[in-house]
Amino acid sequence: MNLPQREILVQPWQPEALDAAQSAPYAPGEAQRVLRFHRSMPGYAPTPLHSLPALAALLGVRAIYVKDESPRFGLNAFKALGGSWAAARWVAERVGLDDEHLNFAALTSPNVRERLQGLTLVTTTDGNHGRGIAWVARQLGLPAIVYMPKGTAQERVDNIRALGATVEVSDLNYDDTVRLAARTAREVGGALMQDTAWPGYEQVPRWIMQGYTTIASEAREQVTALGDAAPTHLFLQAGAGSFAGALAACWATWPGQPVPRIAVLEPHAANCFYATARAADGHLHAVGGDLRTIMAGLSVGEPSTLAWPLLAGTASWFLSCADEVAALGMRVLASPLGQDPRIIAGESGAVGAGVLAAACLCGQGNALREILGLDEHASVLLINTEGDTDRENWRKVVWGC
Ligand SMILES: Cc1ncc(COP(=O)(O)O)c(C=O)c1O
Repeated sequence: MNLPQREILVQPWQPEALDAAQSAPYAPGEAQRVLRFHRSMPGYAPTPLHSLPALAALLGVRAIYVKDESPRFGLNAFKALGGSWAAARWVAERVGLDDEHLNFAALTSPNVRERLQGLTLVTTTDGNHGRGIAWVARQLGLPAIVYMPKGTAQERVDNIRALGATVEVSDLNYDDTVRLAARTAREVGGALMQDTAWPGYEQVPRWIMQGYTTIASEAREQVTALGDAAPTHLFLQAGAGSFAGALAACWATWPGQPVPRIAVLEPHAANCFYATARAADGHLHAVGGDLRTIMAGLSVGEPSTLAWPLLAGTASWFLSCADEVAALGMRVLASPLGQDPRIIAGESGAVGAGVLAAACLCGQGNALREILGLDEHASVLLINTEGDTDRENWRKVVWGC
């Protein structure tokens, strides 16, 4: 076993006070409204939450839960939750629909469709978000232009094209490709549906983040049904941080339950939240360059301005992980023990399981296990945010060929 390959760097963090105004969009009332909308969509079903008691026993923790987002809307990742809610809010504003009671039927009525003629949705993606936007655009009868950074796996391109979107693969990294998409949206008068925020561009990403709260709403009900209303740990992987920020804020604003301790997980190559926490100087710290990592969904070097305050107000640790940690997680979830279910997790989805296994089993040392408090009382909730969205790489990692 080659330990340095599985290196995990930890930056402990003392959560600051969570700003009430910043967290309000993800609080229970709003989250319920989002959930109601998602329930009105074709193909909606809550994704499963699996308990892995045999793995928990091996790793010496009380419980491990994996909320598996791979079946979400048949798209192999969670992302359409955000794109659908953002597109719905955008359309509602544009055509004057009552956004208190938004539902899918109202959005797709002939009258609304007619008023949306000529509109194009534009975005940038590492794969999953763009697939979600292409899917939503098709549902709404709109064209979509999806930009992807250099190095994108062909399967991810094909999946988006198959939904009818125009796909352009740039020769830029993710963050520069986002700027390219923003320019195109301005030029064609399209709606930029980007899942990261920057100064002056926050409304759409806030809606996208709100869309992700459906995962937390479902997961809370599901862990409660399993008799464990209060997991002690929540592991959240971060690219731009929209997913992690939204789930952390949603969980932290739920009344009446202790808030789990939150670990934010990133790849070494794109560890902008880790760098920001480490610097602790009140500024966001971006990471540049190629951002090359097998965790394509987390390959984002510029932190979302909406996400950081939420994570700073909720997280206890920021972790920077070698690619091999995600690979470990993919293997662990693909080869269950005892009666535990088998879970197909892609690179970005599996990093939480990799951290858990590395900390508890693979000699990352009891130091990491101790820092994270992963003892026999720990009940850990992981979110598998994607399935095998790059099947060739999944096989290479899990089968070795
Ligand atoms: C599978 C997967 N997990 C996690 C993330 C991280 O989401 P965010 O960029 O909101 O941090 C992404 C982003 O594309 C993703 O595709």
